[in-house]
Parts: sequence; C-alpha cells; structure tokens
Amino acid sequence: MNLKKMAAEKAVEYIEDGMRVGLGTGSTAYWAIKRIGERVREGMTIQAVATSKASEKLAAEEGIPLVPFHQLDGLDLTIDGADEVNPELSLIKGGGGALLREKIVAYHSKQLIIIADEHKVVNTLGAFPLPVEIIPFAHEWTLGSLEKLGCSPQLRTDNDQLYVTDNGNYIADCRFGEIADPAKLHQQLLYIPGVVDNGLFIGMADRAVIAGSDGTVKIME
Ligand code: A5P
Repeated sequence: MNLKKMAAEKAVEYIEDGMRVGLGTGSTAYWAIKRIGERVREGMTIQAVATSKASEKLAAEEGIPLVPFHQLDGLDLTIDGADEVNPELSLIKGGGGALLREKIVAYHSKQLIIIADEHKVVNTLGAFPLPVEIIPFAHEWTLGSLEKLGCSPQLRTDNDQLYVTDNGNYIADCRFGEIADPAKLHQQLLYIPGVVDNGLFIGMADRAVIAGSDGTVKIME
C-alpha cells in the first residue's frame, strides 16, 4: 500500500477547475503532482506555481500549466508534504530542502493542505531535526548562534558536498529535541542574522490528509 500516494490523491480532490494551485516538494507531493497532471490531461484547467526546481520540472513533464509569479496575486490552494504534523497542524518541513520556497508559496495561498502518511503525525514536534536555511556568508558564526539556542546544528551534505538549496543557501539540521513552544522558537530563529527561514510552519496549514496503514485516509482540521 502506497500511503503517500493515497494521501496525495485524496488531497487533489480538493482542486476545482480554474484554481490557482501551489505544487509542493518531496516524495509525497510527487504523487500529488502526478495526479494533478492526470486531471489536467483529462481537461481540468488550473494555473500552477512550484515550490522547487524539482517540482517545476516534474510539473512541466506532466503538462501542468506553470505561470510566472507576477501573473498571479496569490493562490487558492497549495498541496505539500511535511516531516512532522502535530494536532494543532503545526509542522516541521524542509526535509527535502525546499522550506523557504514552500513557506513563501504557502503564505500566499488561501488554503494549505498537508499530505502525509500516519508516521508523520506526532504529539510534540521535534523528533525530526528542524531544517534551518542559512546563508553561506559567515555560516560558521550562524551555526554558533543556532547552537546557543540549544541544538546541535549539522550542516546538511549531499554526496560529501555541502547541500545547496535552490536559493543558493545551506541547510542546518537542528536537533532541539521536543519543541515545547514552536512559535517562540520560530521567532528566536528568525532573530538570528544569517538565518533565512526555518522549517516550522505554524498556523499555516488548514487541513492535513493522513493515510493510515489500515487503508483509511483521515482528515485533520
Ligand atoms: C521539502 O523540503 C519538504 O518540506 C517536504 O515537504 C517534506 O520533507 C516531506 O517530504 P516527503 O514527502 O518526501 O516525506
């Protein structure tokens, strides 16, 4: 049973003809983009923007109409994955490195639907290391500032090279342990010069479509 595909396909049912749609990033969003592609080929008319170069490429291959940002004054709906979802629908995102573009797109969407398998649902955020996007300039100092907040930041690598985001930045994966107050940590992180953004998405998701290994799909709202 492909839980990611189940959640993704259920969420795509929320897309209505004529909508402006944000396309998420990652292995769950992959299935949403594939299903949106099918619906477009069946005749659905949408305008879309993507949250990463990878999703943009996939969407183009699927024939999904991608439009430049200046042609839209916002989006109706974005469908995206997450690394952790808590009962308040606060999220950790960025496991795939696309958190900054994902957050910008989500912020400008009337609705954000999160798609995930049941293993991503947690009571308290923080078992998944929080991705923090930092600029390369003086990143050693920025890492020191992150450490002072109580985590052990690890610069993300990819095949022994430093991982570089679509925006030319680095990702520090920060193990904070249980994050008791996500909103406070979010503010503390944004206060550090050199931090561009972080994977905490608070008050942004409207619902989460969660697929379970018993074959059911639940909606958290
Ligand atoms: C991409 O940067 C992330 O925010 C993804 O949405 C998140 O990591 C979930 O990815 P998967 O669907 O691949 O687990």
